[in-house]
Amino acid sequence: MPLYDIITIFPDYFSVLDISLIGKARAGGLIDFAIKDLRDYAEGVHKSVDDTPYGGGAGMVMSPDPWGKAIDALANSQDVTNLVILTPAGKKFDQKMAEEFSQFNHVIFACGRYEGIDHRVTEFYRDQPNFKVHEVSIGDYVLNGGEVATLVMLEAIIRLIPGVLGNPESLTEESHSIMVDGQVIVEYPNYTKPAQWRGIHVPDLLLSGNHAAIAAYRAEEAVKRSKNRE
Ligand code: 6GU
Repeated sequence: MPLYDIITIFPDYFSVLDISLIGKARAGGLIDFAIKDLRDYAEGVHKSVDDTPYGGGAGMVMSPDPWGKAIDALANSQDVTNLVILTPAGKKFDQKMAEEFSQFNHVIFACGRYEGIDHRVTEFYRDQPNFKVHEVSIGDYVLNGGEVATLVMLEAIIRLIPGVLGNPESLTEESHSIMVDGQVIVEYPNYTKPAQWRGIHVPDLLLSGNHAAIAAYRAEEAVKRSKNRE
């Protein structure tokens, strides 16, 4: 079963995992995850994990050694460890990447804080044959750390693992799973009862029972919606 290790200085961020779909997937034996406190791998009375940047500048940089020790402790020599380094400078996370990650057996999420992790951590593990390093960002905005980005990635990845979703058909129809000419096509708008709410009627066609016409209408609406998004 896939294993997701998370290294962070804020383990409490991940208590939400227990109440989510992810917690259920773990209870059902479909996946496993473990949260590791970076400070357990730091030395000295202060268990310091950061220092001032070489070359000057604002903020603090996370020291490489606690990261190296933590990552080494989690790696197993049998299979490849996918090391995700969360950074706004990384490759943009999308549905295609979620699908790729859902195939991996072991992923370590390294949640950087402050001005990020000393770049030698990326360089070192890039050169290790049993590691694959992925620098990942969840979008073009700046967060205080990689914790929330890790939660976003985990939710997108774990729901793709067979058996995790109650109704796997919802995977094929949903937003962002459809690509047309390299463009993401988002889902058509959905409606449920009542047929009239605050004076607004559900489109008549959806009540017609004409499944072919409904499918055509939905495809049209999805394309319209996709264009309006930009
Ligand atoms: Cl992965 N980390 C941080 N600190 N900020 C981000 C991000 C990650 N993705 C978007 N913004």
